[in-house]
Amino acid sequence: MCGIVGYIGNKDACEILIDGLRRLEYRGYDSSGIAVIDSNSILVRRSVGKLINLEKRLNEMPVKGTAGIGHTRWATHGRPSEENAHPHIEGNVAVVHNGIIENYLTLKESLKRHGAIFHSETDTEVLAHLISNEMKNGKDLENAVRKALKLVKGSYALVVLCVDEPDKIIGARMECPLVVGLGEGENFIASDIPAILNKTRKVIFLEDGEIAVVSKERAVIKTLQGVIVKKTLRIIDWNPTMAEKGGYRHFMLKEIFEQPRAVADTFRGRISEETGDVILDGFKISRNKLKEVERVYIVACGTSWHASLVGKFLLEELCRIRTEVDLASEFRYRNPVIDKNTLVIGVSQSGETADTLAAVKEAKRKGAEVVSICNVIESSIARESHSVVYTHAGPEIGVASTKAFTTQLTAFYLMALYFARRMGMVKKDIAIEMVHELVKLPHKIERTLTLEKGIEGIAKRYFNFRDFLYLGRGMNYPVALEGALKLKEISYIHAEGYPAGEMKHGPIALIDEDMPVVVLAPKGKTYEKMMGNIEEVKARGGKIIALVNEGDKDVAGKADEVIQVPCASLFLMPILLTIPLQLFAYHIAVLKGTDVDQPRNLAKSVTVE
Ligand code: AGP
Repeated sequence: MCGIVGYIGNKDACEILIDGLRRLEYRGYDSSGIAVIDSNSILVRRSVGKLINLEKRLNEMPVKGTAGIGHTRWATHGRPSEENAHPHIEGNVAVVHNGIIENYLTLKESLKRHGAIFHSETDTEVLAHLISNEMKNGKDLENAVRKALKLVKGSYALVVLCVDEPDKIIGARMECPLVVGLGEGENFIASDIPAILNKTRKVIFLEDGEIAVVSKERAVIKTLQGVIVKKTLRIIDWNPTMAEKGGYRHFMLKEIFEQPRAVADTFRGRISEETGDVILDGFKISRNKLKEVERVYIVACGTSWHASLVGKFLLEELCRIRTEVDLASEFRYRNPVIDKNTLVIGVSQSGETADTLAAVKEAKRKGAEVVSICNVIESSIARESHSVVYTHAGPEIGVASTKAFTTQLTAFYLMALYFARRMGMVKKDIAIEMVHELVKLPHKIERTLTLEKGIEGIAKRYFNFRDFLYLGRGMNYPVALEGALKLKEISYIHAEGYPAGEMKHGPIALIDEDMPVVVLAPKGKTYEKMMGNIEEVKARGGKIIALVNEGDKDVAGKADEVIQVPCASLFLMPILLTIPLQLFAYHIAVLKGTDVDQPRNLAKSVTVE
């Protein structure tokens, strides 16, 4: 999510760090900063907004030194501000961090009890305190980092700098990428290869639980226990554009493959596997207020609207609250019945979509309690809402939403379980089971992603068709809508999503050998009905591309193409079924030669009506 660069050598660290950060600018900025060792002190410069602001600050107040760390921030904990920008300093230690420290609140409280003073709202500052404390207790930097990391729970890629040991920088990784770049008399650490690609092509990738002790002469990789690890040196032959996309051909594909991590980041630190509880930071509705909620309106546009349709199922099923989903562009112009017992949920990746923002404002004006599900921290919709659940998906650059959608579904799952628990609608044992199902999900997404080659093969057989129909039922009907939207927006092929039960009320007239039908038929209470739909399509000469659960033998004999997806609970199947549809649309678009990341006529964020 954030971008990290570290440098140690004989050259001007500031120049190298800024150059590296500039190369990470595609990730989006809300703030940035650098720290450089200048003889006996650490000089820090931080700034809100684009990197250019930091550069201006550095022109006014230059820093000089040959070892330093830099960071571009995509906010997770704490709004974008100078105090929350990295590096975070405590004592003689400076830290830049990417990831989420799940137990930071507990650690922060305990540090405060021992007199620590915090200057930011971030989880990262806790790391600076922990490392600095260990050094005050006599540990050297390497051991202090190791000891501190044993106390934290969560994900991190971090780089640490310390005045007392100016001849090294230390990096560590847990579930967030970090790479060491090897130069001549100088070395680098970075979250992403583009940051250092013009300096060196020789890199070492860190694995989870490894730390890198990097001086200008060498880089030694060890485990958290201090055992030296023999690593393979890799030579990167990517060009700069490939590097930006992490070696993927398009941002969209990169973002599709980021989903195991993105979904995990959405629930990370928010669930208890022991109690089944959900903890939603930033949620301000009291238990009593929740019980008074009589009706929920969910407002959103495009892909976020599709996620909202799944959200309705979750809220109704788990919380038994009357829920309606509105297209924000419609909601704002009809006169919805809203009062103080109405909860309005605004859903938006960007948090800037004009229609959703207007709908949220209107709902607030009419007295509703407003909650939003957003990806971009401190975006307009997030700021306009009484409470926010951030998806923590990281910047989404491809215009076609992918990880934004699956993380919104995850956020709805969390929110529905949170409401249900607080309203006494879901028993503890069920909640624990639901939390366990969620924890298993990232691995199942990874397994689903391994289907890519087969899906590419199907795309090759179908990319010349002009129309597609997508059918689903229940919670998977919105997934059919989303699959169709993905195909049309990036491949320009006409595609319609439909609830399968509506087939015989019209769309069945379209079926012939030129109309492939994508059918979502996982096991569940509507499985038999979907089998009926498959028969209806086959009887009219239509081609079936079926998404079923692993081990399904019934559909195999009937469908032209079968994609087998891992099994999951009813509530999480929409996430798994989405992945093959994203890959299918992606490969068709590539075969048709369209501009996948920036399809014609579309903008990432629709900030005008
Ligand atoms: C979907 O791939 C599109 N990017 C689009 O439908 C998008 O979901 C819609 O414009 C809403 O954007 P938001 O989530 O940022 O509000």
